[in-house]
Amino acid sequence: MVKELLSHVRPHRKTLVLGGLLGLIGSAAGLAMPLLAKYVVDAFGKAGSMAGPLLGLTAAVLIGAVVSAAGSYLMERTGEGIVLGARRKLVDRMLRLKVADVDRLKPGDLLSRVTGDTTLLRAVLTNGIVESVSATFMLVGAIIMMATMDGVLLLVTLLVVVVIGGLVALIMPRIQRAQTHAQEAVGEMGAVLDRALQAYRTVKASGAEEREIAVVGDAAVRARDRGLQVAGWTSLAGVATWMAVQIAFLAVLAVGGARVASGTLEVSSLIAFLLYLFYLVPPIGQLVQGGVQLQQGLAAMKRIKEIEDLPAEPVSAAVAGTGEPVGVTFQDVVFKYGDDRPTVHDGVTFEVPPGGLTALVGPSGAGKSTVFALIERFYDHQKGLITVGGRDIRDWPLGELRAALGYVEQDAPVLAGTLRENLLFAARDATEDELLRAVARTRLDDLVDRLPEGLETPVGHRGVLLSGGERQRVAIARALLRKPRLLLLDEATSQLDAVNELRLREVIAEVAAETTVLVIAHRLSTVTNADRIVVMEGGGVRAVGTHESLVGEDELYRELAATQFLVG
Ligand SMILES: Nc1ncnc2c1ncn2[C@@H]1O[C@H](COP(=O)(O)OP(=O)(O)O)[C@@H](O)[C@H]1O
Ligand SMILES: [Mg+2]
Repeated sequence: MVKELLSHVRPHRKTLVLGGLLGLIGSAAGLAMPLLAKYVVDAFGKAGSMAGPLLGLTAAVLIGAVVSAAGSYLMERTGEGIVLGARRKLVDRMLRLKVADVDRLKPGDLLSRVTGDTTLLRAVLTNGIVESVSATFMLVGAIIMMATMDGVLLLVTLLVVVVIGGLVALIMPRIQRAQTHAQEAVGEMGAVLDRALQAYRTVKASGAEEREIAVVGDAAVRARDRGLQVAGWTSLAGVATWMAVQIAFLAVLAVGGARVASGTLEVSSLIAFLLYLFYLVPPIGQLVQGGVQLQQGLAAMKRIKEIEDLPAEPVSAAVAGTGEPVGVTFQDVVFKYGDDRPTVHDGVTFEVPPGGLTALVGPSGAGKSTVFALIERFYDHQKGLITVGGRDIRDWPLGELRAALGYVEQDAPVLAGTLRENLLFAARDATEDELLRAVARTRLDDLVDRLPEGLETPVGHRGVLLSGGERQRVAIARALLRKPRLLLLDEATSQLDAVNELRLREVIAEVAAETTVLVIAHRLSTVTNADRIVVMEGGGVRAVGTHESLVGEDELYRELAATQFLVG
């Protein structure tokens, strides 16, 4: 884990070392000050020239201040760079995860890892490491200077330092444990808040505001409690340090006073020694703080690694399809969403030749949408063979496979952004003409005319500013613009009114003349003019045929047709 932490620092090591060096020089200037103060005091006694010592003191103050400031700016820069690197790496992995893994994760918790946990890395990797190094330098430096003043007093001081070290070493592991819990609690809070925000209207309609507020509030309280545990242990470490230094001060004052009285020690040496003693306080505090930050960073690293260790989908360039329509076959496909999940496909077999319109029908839960998810390779089937264009989908480079497909999800998602961005989302290089044609084909032109800024109108978070039917038409236009070799429409017209549905049915028929179209249909009207219909039930294919043949042959189909397919 420490190694993992350092891997984030490596690209920045030069700036880090430079910043650290400037910090050291600043510290050295600070370190010289008590000595220079001693010269000033000595100069008083000897009635010599004060100019030299005073000039030295001033120079040390100025150089120390400027160099320290430059050093800390560099440190902050490095810190921001480290956070940026960690965020990029994490987000890169998050958007390349497999759908099956993302199903298990909570979006709110993922968000907190990108925003919160990466921020903690900055503290440990910059302040933590560098200040610990400079603190060690200060500590050693101060001790050496003290050794030159008086050995006996140094011994008294070291005894105290050792006691502090022991105490803090006892406290550190507790800080780490509390910190891990605190970060988990923040992630949980993000997850429950996200849950409420994702179903905002349902929360309100259910009168569940109070309950959801309480749930998020409880999570926030847990985060606070765990944060308090960290704070408790951290301040205990601070108190121990402070007390010990006070005790050391009194001890040195007593022993040193006696030695001054007996004439074995100069007053100026005692003053300088006491000043150095207080110089020990910040570095010891920084070392304690550095230790705390290391624990925080380790806990954050653990949460970041959890995501980075998940497998990513193979990367392959999205090569635009040739435009030739491709067919699809399923042969004895067996699939379940997880080992502990029921079998969804139990030997699904059907064949769709290139071109034409094929409808997939069947009761809700029959596994129709799952057919599309497998064709897109969102999940891997366990047994059997799926081919697209006569080629096993496992042999297709993933980017190339998906580039050949146009896909409209069951709930036709629209992303925050303008209407234009949404339409071009799957086909970045479509021309303006193609865009306008797709808009006209899907009857979105009325909408575009009505919107205040036309295509440049923002559609709101998840397209809330559009109606359900408008969202579906946007999703269809988006898929058409991709010029797919195989178009997958999952109940894509379920929310359209009769007029728009009729128009879209014509468009789908048109598209089916150019490419392969596979629709999961819930309306009889979509199905009657399909070239072939695949009837699914209970994880298998029950019958394949045309509307006419199936009405005669298949009982379930007859039943579905009689109820107009309105099953969802
Ligand atoms: N992401 C998923 N994880 C686990 N189970 C799922 C997932 N998606 C669908 N299922 C389950 O798979 C079965 C078939 O779902 P689906 O293919 O969506 O049916 P259909 O589209 O025919 O209504 C259902 O029982 C559903 O609960
Ligand atoms: Mg479905």
